[in-house]
Amino acid sequence: MTLTVGVDIGGTKIAAGVVGEGGQVLARSRTRSPATDPPEIVRTIGELVRGLVAGLPEGSEVEAVGASAAGFVDKQRSTLVFAPNLAWRDEPLRDHLERELDLPVVIENDANAAAWGEFRFGAGEDVDNLLMLTIGTGVGGGVVLDGELGRGGFGMGGEVGHITMVPDGVPCGCGNLGCLESYGSGSALVRTTREHAATDPGAAALLEQAGGDVEKITGPMVTAAAAAGDAFATARVVELGEWIGRGVATLTAVLDPNVVVIGGGVSEAGDLLLDPIRDSFARHVTGRGHRPLAEVRGALLGNAGGIVGVADLARRR
Ligand code: BGC
Ligand code: NA
Ligand code: ZN
Repeated sequence: MTLTVGVDIGGTKIAAGVVGEGGQVLARSRTRSPATDPPEIVRTIGELVRGLVAGLPEGSEVEAVGASAAGFVDKQRSTLVFAPNLAWRDEPLRDHLERELDLPVVIENDANAAAWGEFRFGAGEDVDNLLMLTIGTGVGGGVVLDGELGRGGFGMGGEVGHITMVPDGVPCGCGNLGCLESYGSGSALVRTTREHAATDPGAAALLEQAGGDVEKITGPMVTAAAAAGDAFATARVVELGEWIGRGVATLTAVLDPNVVVIGGGVSEAGDLLLDPIRDSFARHVTGRGHRPLAEVRGALLGNAGGIVGVADLARRR
């Protein structure tokens, strides 16, 4: 069996896994690493991957490595050109990793990798056209069109977090104003919850959990409170879903996916978030009432989706 390794370069940690042809993760490992110093990250990935390979049974061979990160990757799958929420700029990550690992490497956008993973082995296995949104620090996107990953003319397509929702709206890490990411991300959930909590008496229970300090409210606190039935927290999650649903409606006008997969940390809230997305999507999509409505599903592969997806892309390089 030919094996590849998938590496997920996050903002605060790096995770890697050895993946088989059927998408099965055979071994995993992770480490903390702030994504601020590219040479340090390359060395860390080297250690992670060598550690994983050393632990494999005798005779196993890793043929290539895929690495995903939260930014714009060029068409050659080589350079991390720009990352709205990280310090990366024009980083020739593939060259550096190939030298470090002595293996062929492909670089891919994190949400593209997750979308590909869900398409091949997860929530989109049964369809040919899939739109994925990852809801975390940012809003990531991945598009599978007629069975192919849509990367665009320069590799930077599928950046669904940066469609404009509100002209001259809330600033985004990309430098623009009013992006979907400014309203539909986990960061937006935290921002709006803190804003409301500063004045809304209904926030008392949540605020108490945060030790009375609005600034200590976190995303997981909000979704956990919503799951426990807290009305204030639920309203914030519904608001988030409303924005995401509007974004999905706009994207559907262009892409007409069979299935929309919602992933990323915040999607762990499940139907709490998915139902408001479904509802908002159905109320906003163009041609509603006259067209089939794409099913909105939660991601199936969880935080392994990116690793599995990028490992598969490395195999097909
Ligand atoms: C970036 C994307 C990334 C997404 C999720 C966005 O801000 O522009 O490249 O996929 O965040 O990490
Ligand atoms: Na993308
Ligand atoms: Zn933006």
